Amino acid sequence: MAEEYERFEDFELTAEEAELLEGLPELSELGEARRKFLAQAGALGLGTIALNLLAREEVFAELKIGESAGFAPVAEENAVAVKLSVNGAEKSLTLDSRMTLLDALRERLQLTGSKKGCDHGQCGACTVIVDGKRVLSCLTLTAQCEGKSVTTIEGLAKGEELHAMQAAFIKNDGFQCGFCTPGQICSAVALMQEAKNGEASYVTADVRQKTASVKLSEDEIRERMSGNLCRCGAYPNIVKAIQEVHTGKEQAQTWQFHAPDANTAETNKEVENNATV
Ligand code: FES
Ligand code: FES
Repeated sequence: MAEEYERFEDFELTAEEAELLEGLPELSELGEARRKFLAQAGALGLGTIALNLLAREEVFAELKIGESAGFAPVAEENAVAVKLSVNGAEKSLTLDSRMTLLDALRERLQLTGSKKGCDHGQCGACTVIVDGKRVLSCLTLTAQCEGKSVTTIEGLAKGEELHAMQAAFIKNDGFQCGFCTPGQICSAVALMQEAKNGEASYVTADVRQKTASVKLSEDEIRERMSGNLCRCGAYPNIVKAIQEVHTGKEQAQTWQFHAPDANTAETNKEVENNATV
């Protein structure tokens, strides 16, 4: 191993690499070993990477960092003051104007019920209710919520008494791992109000016919909840839970099994034949 190591010392540095090494201030033993390694890496054809690292090392070696630097409070950039109501409590926050509502809830208010699934508006795990409408908190700036009322999963129950939607999810096994559940429940709670307001959806038969309220069929629920993904696939039970709250009547689970089409039947036959050979 030592021989192998020494072999590298014979490699010649390029003029640029040699100049850079010359210019480096004397560092600790560790720095010395690191430079040796980088020089060897350069000799092995990794010149660009080595040069880059050496240059960075040079810059950092000259930085004078105070002892307390690691504990210095991070300055708020682009700070804005925002007042909003969260689960009925008035909150005054000074935060970066670019901070999302999801980050403010989780990182500043320690309300970690709303989940960060994708942080890109695609999974619905971060859904909360703002002034009665469901929103994706990962795509909502906290600064936009000035003077608004935010309800998260933590604010739905009244003390020990669960919200009807929470109770229905438990009763109907509307979750498995539970990661998507806060978002599903907030979405479903706001959905009840949308139905009461007669708001149309993609599957509404006639969107020109404004109705006082919408009766939520299974298709309507599936469509309106399509922004909330569940990796555990608890969808049938989620739909039942929502139907139960919507109708006020207990819902029986209905499983649908489809007869195999001709292609599937053919494939199954082949599998069976191969198994018996
Ligand atoms: S975390 Fe907001 S939609 Fe996925
Ligand atoms: S219950 Fe696991 S992701 Fe929905």
